[in-house]
Amino acid sequence: MVVEDWDALGRIAALIVAQQLHDNPLSVLALPTGKTPLTLYCWLVRMYDEGTVDFSANRTFNLDEFYGIDRDNPGSFAAYMRREFFGHVNLRPENINLLDPLAHDVDAECRCYERKIRDAGGIDLAILGIGQNGHLAFNEPGSPFDSRTRLVRLTPQTIKDNRSFFRDLSEVPHFALTMGLGTIMEARHVLLLASGRRKAKVIARALQGAVTVACPASVLQQHPKLTVVVDKDAAARLLDVGSRSR
Ligand code: GLP
Repeated sequence: MVVEDWDALGRIAALIVAQQLHDNPLSVLALPTGKTPLTLYCWLVRMYDEGTVDFSANRTFNLDEFYGIDRDNPGSFAAYMRREFFGHVNLRPENINLLDPLAHDVDAECRCYERKIRDAGGIDLAILGIGQNGHLAFNEPGSPFDSRTRLVRLTPQTIKDNRSFFRDLSEVPHFALTMGLGTIMEARHVLLLASGRRKAKVIARALQGAVTVACPASVLQQHPKLTVVVDKDAAARLLDVGSRSR
């Protein structure tokens, strides 16, 4: 679906989430961070204030987290989620799952996250942004399609792209914990969001290019239930397949 702008993207995505919660009030959600979903969270908070959505029975799993910083660091995704969403809606704290950025035993932390997702019955709706290099969550190019939750090294481009969450570039962690592509692909419904001209190239590559680990998001072409919401700018390089075949 192509919408006018970033705000419309957030509104439509919020309506898709609301529909999901209406169809299954016990839905398990995988949640993204970054700039893209800010308008989604804004609309969800607005809908919650108006009484049209209720999160009291939902469980959430964040897609990823920087590794090696405190959760109170304003650049952490835990802090972002408190600021933009968790602090404003009625999700129960015990139903919110975040990867521990200071986990000593990283493998145990990642296995535990996978087990919690399984015990919750799997993810009903995974909401995703996309990195300029095609990453999903922090699955950088080269990530296997069957990868699970794990520690990853961030690319220089991703480190630069995340600079705005920190005081300066030197503070951006070089490692992160991320749900794997295999974990994400097991979600029953995937909602991919992208906004702005800087995402136009990667959206075309992910959705209409070759399915390859060089562009991790291309794996979504194989998902049985994928919804894509992009604004006009992010859709600018998508080929009109219908008119091409005429
Ligand atoms: C970040 C996150 C991703 C996000 C992507 C795009 O690094 N780990 O989950 O989708 O990059 O971010 P933005 O929405 O700010 O462009």
